[in-house]
Amino acid sequence: MVSVHRGKPEAFLENYCSRLGTLLEARYTGLALLAAKQEADAAAQHANESMLEAKAADLAKTRFLANMAHELRTPLNAIIGFSEIIKLDAIQAKERYPQYAEYIHDAGILLLNIINGLLDLARIQAGRVDLDEQIVAVGELIQSAVRTIAPIAERKSIYVDCELAHASTLIAVDQTKFRQIILNLLSNGVKFTEPQGRILIDSGFDSRGDFVISIKDTGIGIPPEHLERVLSPFEQVADHLTKENEGTGLGLPIARALIELHGGNLTLSSDLGAGTTVALRLPHERIHGVAPATS
Ligand SMILES: Nc1ncnc2c1ncn2[C@@H]1O[C@H](COP(=O)(O)OP(=O)(O)OP(=O)(O)O)[C@@H](O)[C@H]1O
Ligand SMILES: [Mg+2]
Repeated sequence: MVSVHRGKPEAFLENYCSRLGTLLEARYTGLALLAAKQEADAAAQHANESMLEAKAADLAKTRFLANMAHELRTPLNAIIGFSEIIKLDAIQAKERYPQYAEYIHDAGILLLNIINGLLDLARIQAGRVDLDEQIVAVGELIQSAVRTIAPIAERKSIYVDCELAHASTLIAVDQTKFRQIILNLLSNGVKFTEPQGRILIDSGFDSRGDFVISIKDTGIGIPPEHLERVLSPFEQVADHLTKENEGTGLGLPIARALIELHGGNLTLSSDLGAGTTVALRLPHERIHGVAPATS
C-alpha cells in the first residue's frame, strides 16, 4: 500500500516536472525566438536607416555639385564671353574694352573667392586646419569686425549696436578665424536687412557656463523650412535681397565649420519678416577670466 502511495506522487511529480520542462523550454524557445526576431527587426531598421542616410548624402552631394557648377559657370561665362568679343574685335568698339576688362577682372575675382571658400571649407572639414590660439577680450574682437563692416552698414543706413555685456571676457580663439566668423554673420545681417534696420550684438553665459555671442538683425528673416538648408554650401533663399546682393552661399557654412573647429556651435533662429538671430556658443574651457580694467 505504502509503495503504491509513494509511487503515484512520484509519477505525478515526474510527469509534472517533465511537462513544466517542456513548457519552459517552449517558453524559452519562444522568448529566444522573440529576441532573435527583435534583433532581426532592429538590424533591418538600422540597415534601412543607413540606406536612407546614404541616399540623403548622395542627394546632398549631387545638389552640392549642381550648385557649384552653376556658381562657377556664371563668372566663367562672363570671362569667356567678354574676352571673345575682344579677341574677335566683334563689335569694333575698342573704347569699351577697358570696361570689358573690368568685367573679366571682377568675374576672375569672384571665381577666386568661390574657389578659396570651397578650399577653406574642404580643409576645415578634412581636419587639416590648425588653430593659432590667442587670448583676447571678446569686445575688442567684435569691435574690430564691426569697424570693418561699418562703412557698408552706414551706406545702407543700418545701425549696428554692439554694447555687449561681458565685453572684457577673455577667450582663447584663433583671432583671424573668429573675426571671419563674426564678419560673415555681420555681412549677412547687413545684406538681409532693409535700410533703417538694426543689428544687435550681445553676449552672455548659458546654463552650462559656455559663452554665447548672439547677432540679431531686424531683417527679412529665413523661412523655417530653409533654416537647416542655408547652412550647407551654395544654399540660398530665393528672396529679393539675395538676388540683389552678390553672394555664393558659402558664408554661413564656413562660419559654422570655423566655430565647430573651436569646439563650439552655431544655431540659427528666425522670424520671417521680423529678423534672424545667430547664436555662437563657445565652450567654457575657452573662457580665461576677465581682462583687467584699464584706467
Ligand atoms: N541674417 C540673415 N537674414 C536673412 N537671410 C539670411 C541671413 N543670413 C543668411 N541668410 C540666408 O542664407 C543664405 C546663405 O547665407 P550665406 O552667408 O551662406 O550666403 P550668402 O550671404 O548668400 O553668400 P556669401 O556669404 O557667400 O557671400 C543667404 O543667401 C540668405 O538667403
Ligand atoms: Mg553671407
